[in-house]
Amino acid sequence: MSGKTAADLLITDAMLATMGPESGPRRGARMRELGLLRGDVAIRDGVILEAGHEIAPGYRAELTWPARGRLVTPGLVDPHTHAVFAGTREDEFEMRNSGVPYAEIANRGGGIRRSVAQVRSAAPGEILARTRVSLRRMLAHGTTTVEVKSGYGLSLADEVKLLEAARALGDEGPVEVVTTFLGAHEVPPEYEADRAGYVNLVCGQMIPEVARRGLARWCDVFCEKGVFEIDDSRRILEAAKAAGLDVRLHAEEFATIGGAQLAADVGAASADHLMAIDDAGIEALKRAGTVAVLLPGTTFFLGLPKYAPARRLIEAGVPVALATDFNPGSCYTESLQIIFTIAATQLKMTAAEILTACTVNAAHSLRIGDRVGRIAAGMQADLVLWDADDPRQLPYHFGVNQAALVIKKGEMYQSPR
Ligand code: NIG
Ligand code: FE
Repeated sequence: MSGKTAADLLITDAMLATMGPESGPRRGARMRELGLLRGDVAIRDGVILEAGHEIAPGYRAELTWPARGRLVTPGLVDPHTHAVFAGTREDEFEMRNSGVPYAEIANRGGGIRRSVAQVRSAAPGEILARTRVSLRRMLAHGTTTVEVKSGYGLSLADEVKLLEAARALGDEGPVEVVTTFLGAHEVPPEYEADRAGYVNLVCGQMIPEVARRGLARWCDVFCEKGVFEIDDSRRILEAAKAAGLDVRLHAEEFATIGGAQLAADVGAASADHLMAIDDAGIEALKRAGTVAVLLPGTTFFLGLPKYAPARRLIEAGVPVALATDFNPGSCYTESLQIIFTIAATQLKMTAAEILTACTVNAAHSLRIGDRVGRIAAGMQADLVLWDADDPRQLPYHFGVNQAALVIKKGEMYQSPR
């Protein structure tokens, strides 16, 4: 026998964006370091054996895939979605675009509560089938790991229905699903006059049950003026931590109410949205090392003029990640690729910063950066081979699918284009 090591798959002659060595979430100028190298990746049993320049000759592989100089990145990680729901709301999108304000649409029976009504009347199989289609679409566009929040059930049984669907689809694969309990997404209609009663239900029954059944790793709250304000949000996050859940937070999306400081205070892994964050909030995130998860697709889809201050966050040394916020109301896309372009033109992020935000930093925001988000020996074999040979082409070419081949745990999926 040759002295070669056995591999299942060998990707050869790629432009590898390895994202560099393990050293936690990237901040400041380090967000622009892609660890680019021309080389090969050897994969066995779903794990990267080795990645580097001219390592291929040391391996005997079942299958060799020549990249011919094309870009290979880690599989994309989408750390903020509301992907389990039951119906769409394109009529609201059109109403908004013709000038009807969001609050008015909600008063006419639209908004989050419309999705809640749709979920409550949907059979689990229906939710499963439509979410499966979305996860397939994510995979085709390069997303190999996705965070999925509940939050359109707002009763114990309906939140459990959503989390079970997300869990089942994660078990089915190939896209890996990280689940988040977002029972505090809105106050359901039956608690309209009793917000405190709903917070009690979330803290006293829903969180303990979700934690006991192992349905979610994370707990999130829509911390927003008029929804769950600081005191309610803090109570819910503390209850979640006491039950053993890790916490993340929708913060400062529309109004500046101190959500970023709350996220920092309670040790949240991420503070998300942040369109309205102020200097004190930026300072708090920096001090706590909280990842800022920005969702520029939502600002774009809502047609709003003011984006999150990505440059100020990066310059202050806050680690920045990007996500789709995929949901039927405020951002209806499964693709992180369109988010790349919006982040470039509206957040003024460079291609390298964007790639860091969608791989290593997104993984760290979910506390799975030890296993996904980089190309290195021992990491999970989650990769994307792009129809591009320079990372700057990713945000530049938009409205088309540039992912050619997506690899999840060593299994290959060719993207339909
Ligand atoms: O992240 N911010 C809160 N909620 C979601 C979805 C809202 C909706 O369904 O309209 C969001 O944008
Ligand atoms: Fe959201």
